[in-house]
Amino acid sequence: MSDVMQSVRFSSLDLPNRFALAPMTRTSAEPDGTPNDLMAEQYEGYARGGFGLIITEGTYTDNLASQGYANQPGLTNDAQVAGWRRIVERVHQAGSKIVAQLMHAGAQFQANRFQDHPLAPSAVAPKGAPLGLYGDQAAWQVPTIMTDDDIRAAIDGFAKAASNAKRAGFDGIEIHGANGYLLNQFLSTHFNRREDTWGGSLENRLRFVVEVVRSVRAAVGDDFPVGIRLSQATVTDPDYQLPEGEAGFRRIVEAVRDAGADFVHTTDGAVDRPHLVDSDQSLASVAAGVDGLALIVNGGIDETNHMDIAARFPGALLAVGKKALANPDFVQRLKDGKEIADLDFAMLQPKATLSNERAWRARQGA
Ligand SMILES: Cc1cc2nc3c(=O)[nH]c(=O)nc-3n(C[C@H](O)[C@H](O)[C@H](O)COP(=O)(O)O)c2cc1C
Repeated sequence: MSDVMQSVRFSSLDLPNRFALAPMTRTSAEPDGTPNDLMAEQYEGYARGGFGLIITEGTYTDNLASQGYANQPGLTNDAQVAGWRRIVERVHQAGSKIVAQLMHAGAQFQANRFQDHPLAPSAVAPKGAPLGLYGDQAAWQVPTIMTDDDIRAAIDGFAKAASNAKRAGFDGIEIHGANGYLLNQFLSTHFNRREDTWGGSLENRLRFVVEVVRSVRAAVGDDFPVGIRLSQATVTDPDYQLPEGEAGFRRIVEAVRDAGADFVHTTDGAVDRPHLVDSDQSLASVAAGVDGLALIVNGGIDETNHMDIAARFPGALLAVGKKALANPDFVQRLKDGKEIADLDFAMLQPKATLSNERAWRARQGA
Protein backbone atom coordinates (compact mmCIF):
# COMPACT_ATOMS: atom_id res chain seq x y z
CA MET A 1 0.00 0.00 0.00
CA SER A 2 1.25 3.46 -0.81
CA ASP A 3 2.77 5.72 1.80
CA VAL A 4 -0.24 8.02 1.49
CA MET A 5 -2.37 5.27 3.04
CA GLN A 6 -0.04 4.83 6.04
CA SER A 7 -0.94 6.33 9.41
CA VAL A 8 0.75 9.64 10.06
CA ARG A 9 1.41 12.09 12.85
CA PHE A 10 0.16 15.52 11.77
CA SER A 11 0.82 18.34 14.22
CA SER A 12 -0.17 16.55 17.46
CA LEU A 13 -2.80 14.36 15.78
CA ASP A 14 -2.46 10.69 14.89
CA LEU A 15 -4.29 10.12 11.61
CA PRO A 16 -5.06 6.82 9.85
CA ASN A 17 -3.81 8.14 6.49
CA ARG A 18 -2.71 11.34 4.72
CA PHE A 19 -6.00 12.24 3.04
CA ALA A 20 -7.98 15.26 4.26
CA LEU A 21 -11.42 16.37 3.18
CA ALA A 22 -11.04 19.92 1.83
CA PRO A 23 -13.35 22.47 3.47
CA MET A 24 -16.59 22.82 1.48
CA THR A 25 -19.44 25.22 2.14
CA ARG A 26 -22.83 23.57 1.71
CA THR A 27 -25.18 26.16 3.28
CA SER A 28 -27.27 23.44 4.90
CA ALA A 29 -27.32 24.42 8.58
CA GLU A 30 -30.53 25.60 10.25
CA PRO A 31 -31.39 29.25 9.45
CA ASP A 32 -29.92 30.26 12.83
CA GLY A 33 -26.56 28.62 12.01
CA THR A 34 -27.06 25.47 14.11
CA PRO A 35 -25.54 22.34 12.54
CA ASN A 36 -28.11 19.57 12.00
CA ASP A 37 -28.45 15.83 11.38
CA LEU A 38 -28.08 16.13 7.61
CA MET A 39 -24.67 17.74 8.14
CA ALA A 40 -23.73 15.06 10.68
CA GLU A 41 -24.64 12.35 8.20
CA GLN A 42 -22.53 14.06 5.52
CA TYR A 43 -19.41 14.44 7.66
CA GLU A 44 -19.73 10.93 9.08
CA GLY A 45 -20.02 9.69 5.49
CA TYR A 46 -16.67 11.25 4.57
CA ALA A 47 -15.07 9.73 7.68
CA ARG A 48 -16.49 6.29 6.83
CA GLY A 49 -15.30 6.86 3.27
CA GLY A 50 -11.75 6.90 4.60
CA PHE A 51 -10.66 10.54 4.98
CA GLY A 52 -8.20 10.62 7.89
CA LEU A 53 -8.87 14.28 8.59
CA ILE A 54 -12.08 16.19 7.96
CA ILE A 55 -11.91 19.97 7.60
CA THR A 56 -15.33 21.55 8.06
CA GLU A 57 -16.91 24.09 5.78
CA GLY A 58 -16.18 27.75 6.55
CA THR A 59 -17.98 28.50 9.82
CA TYR A 60 -18.78 32.03 10.92
CA THR A 61 -17.17 33.44 14.03
CA ASP A 62 -19.36 36.21 15.50
CA ASN A 63 -22.84 37.70 15.51
CA LEU A 64 -21.58 40.79 13.70
CA ALA A 65 -20.38 40.80 10.08
CA SER A 66 -18.65 37.39 9.75
CA GLN A 67 -21.53 35.37 8.29
CA GLY A 68 -21.45 35.42 4.49
CA TYR A 69 -24.12 32.96 3.39
CA ALA A 70 -27.66 31.99 4.38
CA ASN A 71 -27.73 28.64 6.23
CA GLN A 72 -24.00 28.82 6.91
CA PRO A 73 -23.13 27.18 10.25
CA GLY A 74 -21.67 29.26 13.06
CA LEU A 75 -19.65 28.67 16.24
CA THR A 76 -20.98 31.55 18.29
CA ASN A 77 -23.42 30.07 20.84
CA ASP A 78 -24.23 26.97 22.90
CA ALA A 79 -26.77 25.55 20.44
CA GLN A 80 -24.23 25.69 17.63
CA VAL A 81 -21.59 24.12 19.89
CA ALA A 82 -24.03 21.30 20.73
CA GLY A 83 -24.81 20.73 17.04
CA TRP A 84 -21.12 20.53 16.17
CA ARG A 85 -20.45 18.22 19.14
CA ARG A 86 -22.80 15.61 17.66
CA ILE A 87 -20.94 15.86 14.34
CA VAL A 88 -17.53 15.61 16.01
CA GLU A 89 -18.65 12.51 17.94
CA ARG A 90 -19.89 10.76 14.81
CA VAL A 91 -16.66 11.53 12.94
CA HIS A 92 -14.61 10.25 15.89
CA GLN A 93 -16.68 7.07 16.09
CA ALA A 94 -15.86 6.48 12.44
CA GLY A 95 -12.13 6.71 13.24
CA SER A 96 -11.26 10.15 11.79
CA LYS A 97 -10.29 13.51 13.26
CA ILE A 98 -12.00 16.81 12.50
CA VAL A 99 -10.89 20.45 12.59
CA ALA A 100 -13.17 23.49 12.37
CA GLN A 101 -12.58 26.02 9.62
CA LEU A 102 -13.26 29.51 11.02
CA MET A 103 -14.27 32.09 8.44
CA HIS A 104 -15.13 35.77 8.27
CA ALA A 105 -16.71 36.75 4.94
CA GLY A 106 -15.66 40.42 4.91
CA ALA A 107 -16.53 41.82 1.46
CA GLN A 108 -17.58 38.38 0.12
CA PHE A 109 -20.92 38.81 1.84
CA GLN A 110 -24.12 37.42 0.37
CA ALA A 111 -26.37 36.97 3.42
CA ASN A 112 -26.03 37.75 7.12
CA ARG A 113 -28.68 37.55 9.87
CA PHE A 114 -27.14 40.31 11.95
CA GLN A 115 -26.55 43.11 9.49
CA ASP A 116 -27.36 43.97 5.93
CA HIS A 117 -24.06 45.24 4.63
CA PRO A 118 -20.46 43.97 4.63
CA LEU A 119 -17.49 45.26 6.60
CA ALA A 120 -14.08 44.99 4.95
CA PRO A 121 -10.61 46.58 4.97
CA SER A 122 -11.58 49.13 2.28
CA ALA A 123 -14.62 50.22 0.29
CA VAL A 124 -13.75 47.82 -2.53
CA ALA A 125 -16.14 45.13 -3.73
CA PRO A 126 -14.96 41.71 -4.93
CA LYS A 127 -14.47 41.28 -8.68
CA GLY A 128 -17.06 39.33 -10.65
CA ALA A 129 -20.49 38.28 -9.43
CA PRO A 130 -21.71 36.67 -6.18
CA LEU A 131 -21.80 32.88 -6.09
CA GLY A 132 -25.07 31.52 -7.45
CA LEU A 133 -24.34 28.25 -5.63
CA TYR A 134 -25.01 30.00 -2.33
CA GLY A 135 -27.63 32.66 -3.02
CA ASP A 136 -29.48 34.77 -5.56
CA GLN A 137 -27.76 38.10 -4.90
CA ALA A 138 -27.22 39.88 -8.23
CA ALA A 139 -24.21 42.02 -7.31
CA TRP A 140 -21.67 42.48 -4.52
CA GLN A 141 -22.21 45.43 -2.20
CA VAL A 142 -19.47 47.99 -1.70
CA PRO A 143 -18.37 47.30 1.89
CA THR A 144 -18.15 49.74 4.77
CA ILE A 145 -14.52 50.36 5.83
CA MET A 146 -13.70 48.63 9.13
CA THR A 147 -12.78 50.91 12.02
CA ASP A 148 -10.11 49.90 14.52
CA ASP A 149 -12.93 48.79 16.82
CA ASP A 150 -14.47 46.65 14.07
CA ILE A 151 -11.07 45.04 13.45
CA ARG A 152 -10.59 44.30 17.15
CA ALA A 153 -14.12 42.85 17.37
CA ALA A 154 -13.43 40.57 14.38
CA ILE A 155 -10.17 39.32 15.98
CA ASP A 156 -12.03 38.71 19.22
CA GLY A 157 -14.70 36.77 17.31
CA PHE A 158 -12.07 34.34 16.00
CA ALA A 159 -10.76 33.78 19.55
CA LYS A 160 -14.25 33.08 20.95
CA ALA A 161 -15.19 30.82 18.05
CA ALA A 162 -11.93 28.90 18.55
CA SER A 163 -12.77 28.37 22.25
CA ASN A 164 -16.23 27.21 21.23
CA ALA A 165 -14.70 24.78 18.73
CA LYS A 166 -12.50 23.33 21.47
CA ARG A 167 -15.58 23.01 23.72
CA ALA A 168 -17.38 21.17 20.92
CA GLY A 169 -14.59 18.57 20.92
CA PHE A 170 -12.91 19.50 17.64
CA ASP A 171 -9.33 18.27 17.20
CA GLY A 172 -8.03 21.61 15.96
CA ILE A 173 -8.72 24.90 14.20
CA GLU A 174 -8.14 25.95 10.62
CA ILE A 175 -8.35 29.72 10.19
CA HIS A 176 -9.64 30.63 6.72
CA GLY A 177 -6.97 32.94 5.34
CA ALA A 178 -7.65 32.06 1.69
CA ASN A 179 -10.03 32.50 -1.26
CA GLY A 180 -10.83 36.19 -0.83
CA TYR A 181 -12.47 36.09 2.62
CA LEU A 182 -11.58 38.66 5.29
CA LEU A 183 -8.02 37.58 6.20
CA ASN A 184 -7.16 37.21 2.53
CA GLN A 185 -8.70 40.65 1.90
CA PHE A 186 -6.26 42.23 4.36
CA LEU A 187 -3.36 40.55 2.50
CA SER A 188 -4.66 41.52 -0.94
CA THR A 189 -3.71 44.78 -2.65
CA HIS A 190 -7.02 44.60 -4.54
CA PHE A 191 -9.11 44.66 -1.36
CA ASN A 192 -6.81 46.46 1.07
CA ARG A 193 -6.24 50.11 0.14
CA ARG A 194 -5.74 51.28 3.74
CA GLU A 195 -3.07 53.80 4.61
CA ASP A 196 -3.02 53.07 8.37
CA THR A 197 -1.11 50.32 10.20
CA TRP A 198 -3.42 47.65 8.70
CA GLY A 199 -2.53 48.42 5.06
CA GLY A 200 0.23 49.38 2.64
CA SER A 201 3.40 47.31 3.10
CA LEU A 202 3.22 43.52 3.32
CA GLU A 203 4.10 43.73 7.03
CA ASN A 204 1.10 46.03 7.57
CA ARG A 205 -1.24 43.90 5.43
CA LEU A 206 -0.09 40.87 7.45
CA ARG A 207 -0.94 42.50 10.79
CA PHE A 208 -4.59 41.39 10.89
CA VAL A 209 -3.68 37.81 9.93
CA VAL A 210 -0.96 37.66 12.57
CA GLU A 211 -3.28 39.09 15.23
CA VAL A 212 -5.99 36.54 14.42
CA VAL A 213 -3.52 33.65 14.65
CA ARG A 214 -2.15 34.98 17.94
CA SER A 215 -5.59 35.45 19.47
CA VAL A 216 -6.75 31.99 18.40
CA ARG A 217 -3.57 30.44 19.81
CA ALA A 218 -4.05 32.31 23.10
CA ALA A 219 -7.68 31.16 23.27
CA VAL A 220 -7.01 27.44 22.80
CA GLY A 221 -3.64 27.06 24.56
CA ASP A 222 -0.34 25.69 23.34
CA ASP A 223 -1.21 22.02 22.90
CA PHE A 224 -4.11 22.37 20.44
CA PRO A 225 -3.54 22.23 16.66
CA VAL A 226 -4.02 25.61 14.97
CA GLY A 227 -3.43 26.21 11.29
CA ILE A 228 -4.32 28.59 8.52
CA ARG A 229 -5.39 28.15 4.90
CA LEU A 230 -3.62 30.41 2.39
CA SER A 231 -4.17 31.12 -1.31
CA GLN A 232 -3.63 33.82 -3.86
CA ALA A 233 -6.80 33.20 -5.88
CA THR A 234 -10.16 34.33 -4.58
CA VAL A 235 -13.53 32.75 -5.33
CA THR A 236 -14.26 35.29 -8.07
CA ASP A 237 -10.70 36.24 -9.12
CA PRO A 238 -8.57 33.19 -9.95
CA ASP A 239 -5.84 35.40 -11.41
CA TYR A 240 -4.93 37.55 -8.37
CA GLN A 241 -1.20 37.42 -7.58
CA LEU A 242 0.59 38.70 -4.52
CA PRO A 243 2.81 41.57 -5.76
CA GLU A 244 5.61 40.50 -3.39
CA GLY A 245 5.83 37.10 -5.14
CA GLU A 246 7.70 34.13 -3.73
CA ALA A 247 9.60 36.01 -1.02
CA GLY A 248 6.36 37.67 0.06
CA PHE A 249 4.51 34.37 0.30
CA ARG A 250 7.40 32.83 2.26
CA ARG A 251 7.25 35.79 4.64
CA ILE A 252 3.50 35.22 5.18
CA VAL A 253 4.10 31.56 6.03
CA GLU A 254 6.92 32.42 8.44
CA ALA A 255 4.83 35.14 10.07
CA VAL A 256 1.87 32.83 10.77
CA ARG A 257 4.25 30.21 12.15
CA ASP A 258 5.86 32.79 14.44
CA ALA A 259 2.38 33.94 15.55
CA GLY A 260 1.56 30.40 16.75
CA ALA A 261 0.27 28.39 13.79
CA ASP A 262 1.49 24.81 13.69
CA PHE A 263 0.18 23.98 10.25
CA VAL A 264 -0.38 25.74 6.94
CA HIS A 265 -2.87 24.60 4.30
CA THR A 266 -2.04 25.90 0.83
CA THR A 267 -4.58 25.94 -1.96
CA ASP A 268 -3.22 26.30 -5.48
CA GLY A 269 -4.97 25.94 -8.86
CA ALA A 270 -2.98 22.70 -8.92
CA VAL A 271 -0.55 21.60 -6.21
CA ASP A 272 2.46 21.74 -8.49
CA ARG A 273 1.42 24.53 -10.88
CA PRO A 274 3.44 27.74 -10.49
CA HIS A 275 1.34 30.88 -10.12
CA LEU A 276 3.50 33.26 -8.10
CA VAL A 277 4.34 36.39 -10.04
CA ASP A 278 8.11 35.88 -10.05
CA SER A 279 8.61 32.18 -9.44
CA ASP A 280 8.29 28.69 -10.89
CA GLN A 281 7.07 27.36 -7.54
CA SER A 282 3.54 26.76 -6.31
CA LEU A 283 2.38 27.98 -2.89
CA ALA A 284 2.63 24.37 -1.70
CA SER A 285 6.31 24.17 -2.72
CA VAL A 286 7.18 27.45 -1.04
CA ALA A 287 5.39 26.45 2.19
CA ALA A 288 7.12 23.04 2.14
CA GLY A 289 10.44 24.88 2.29
CA VAL A 290 9.58 26.65 5.56
CA ASP A 291 10.72 24.82 8.70
CA GLY A 292 8.63 24.23 11.77
CA LEU A 293 5.18 23.77 10.23
CA ALA A 294 3.03 20.82 9.25
CA LEU A 295 1.57 21.12 5.76
CA ILE A 296 -1.68 20.40 3.95
CA VAL A 297 -1.63 20.80 0.17
CA ASN A 298 -4.68 21.22 -2.06
CA GLY A 299 -5.60 21.75 -5.69
CA GLY A 300 -6.50 19.19 -8.35
CA ILE A 301 -5.56 16.07 -6.36
CA ASP A 302 -7.12 12.97 -7.91
CA GLU A 303 -6.76 9.24 -8.44
CA THR A 304 -4.01 9.71 -11.03
CA ASN A 305 -1.62 12.10 -9.25
CA HIS A 306 -1.99 11.51 -5.50
CA MET A 307 0.99 9.14 -5.25
CA ASP A 308 3.32 11.59 -6.99
CA ILE A 309 2.08 14.47 -4.84
CA ALA A 310 2.45 12.39 -1.67
CA ALA A 311 6.04 11.60 -2.64
CA ARG A 312 6.78 15.19 -3.62
CA PHE A 313 5.52 16.49 -0.21
CA PRO A 314 6.64 13.89 2.35
CA GLY A 315 4.50 13.93 5.50
CA ALA A 316 2.02 16.47 4.10
CA LEU A 317 -1.71 15.83 4.06
CA LEU A 318 -3.48 15.85 0.69
CA ALA A 319 -6.78 17.77 0.83
CA VAL A 320 -9.35 16.66 -1.73
CA GLY A 321 -12.34 18.78 -2.76
CA LYS A 322 -14.31 18.05 -5.93
CA LYS A 323 -13.26 14.40 -6.15
CA ALA A 324 -14.56 13.96 -2.60
CA LEU A 325 -17.88 15.57 -3.48
CA ALA A 326 -18.23 13.12 -6.35
CA ASN A 327 -16.90 10.18 -4.28
CA PRO A 328 -17.49 10.61 -0.52
CA ASP A 329 -15.67 7.27 -0.19
CA PHE A 330 -12.76 8.45 -2.39
CA VAL A 331 -10.09 7.02 -0.07
CA GLN A 332 -11.80 3.65 0.33
CA ARG A 333 -12.29 3.48 -3.44
CA LEU A 334 -8.57 4.07 -4.00
CA LYS A 335 -7.76 1.30 -1.51
CA ASP A 336 -10.18 -1.08 -3.22
CA GLY A 337 -9.07 -0.12 -6.74
CA LYS A 338 -12.64 0.95 -7.58
CA GLU A 339 -13.68 3.47 -10.19
CA ILE A 340 -13.58 7.16 -9.21
CA ALA A 341 -16.28 9.45 -10.63
CA ASP A 342 -15.83 13.05 -11.79
CA LEU A 343 -17.96 15.72 -10.16
CA ASP A 344 -21.19 16.38 -12.03
CA PHE A 345 -21.95 20.01 -11.13
CA ALA A 346 -25.66 19.23 -11.52
CA MET A 347 -25.28 17.73 -8.03
CA LEU A 348 -24.83 21.26 -6.65
CA GLN A 349 -27.73 22.85 -8.60
CA PRO A 350 -29.58 25.05 -8.18
CA LYS A 351 -27.78 25.54 -4.84
CA ALA A 352 -24.90 23.58 -3.27
CA THR A 353 -27.07 22.22 -0.46
CA LEU A 354 -27.01 18.73 1.00
CA SER A 355 -30.70 18.26 0.21
CA ASN A 356 -30.04 19.04 -3.47
CA GLU A 357 -27.20 16.50 -3.42
CA ARG A 358 -29.51 13.93 -1.86
CA ALA A 359 -32.16 14.55 -4.55
CA TRP A 360 -29.52 14.33 -7.29
CA ARG A 361 -28.23 11.00 -5.90
CA ALA A 362 -31.79 9.65 -5.76
CA ARG A 363 -32.25 10.60 -9.42
CA GLN A 364 -28.99 8.84 -10.35
CA GLY A 365 -30.06 5.69 -8.53
CA ALA A 366 -33.54 5.72 -10.08
C1 LIG B 1 -18.83 23.45 -3.29
C2 LIG B 1 -17.50 23.97 -2.80
C3 LIG B 1 -17.45 24.65 -1.58
C4 LIG B 1 -16.23 25.15 -1.08
N1 LIG B 1 -16.20 25.77 0.16
C5 LIG B 1 -15.00 26.12 0.71
C6 LIG B 1 -14.92 26.59 2.06
O1 LIG B 1 -15.92 26.68 2.80
N2 LIG B 1 -13.69 26.91 2.54
C7 LIG B 1 -12.54 26.80 1.77
O2 LIG B 1 -11.46 27.12 2.25
N3 LIG B 1 -12.60 26.34 0.50
C8 LIG B 1 -13.80 25.97 -0.03
N4 LIG B 1 -13.83 25.41 -1.29
C9 LIG B 1 -12.56 25.16 -2.03
C10 LIG B 1 -12.11 23.70 -1.81
O3 LIG B 1 -11.77 23.49 -0.44
C11 LIG B 1 -10.88 23.37 -2.67
O4 LIG B 1 -9.85 24.28 -2.35
C12 LIG B 1 -11.16 23.44 -4.16
O5 LIG B 1 -12.31 22.69 -4.50
C13 LIG B 1 -9.95 22.94 -4.96
O6 LIG B 1 -9.62 21.61 -4.59
P1 LIG B 1 -9.99 20.37 -5.56
O7 LIG B 1 -9.23 20.61 -6.83
O8 LIG B 1 -9.59 19.14 -4.84
O9 LIG B 1 -11.49 20.46 -5.79
C14 LIG B 1 -15.04 24.96 -1.82
C15 LIG B 1 -15.11 24.28 -3.05
C16 LIG B 1 -16.31 23.77 -3.53
C17 LIG B 1 -16.32 23.01 -4.84
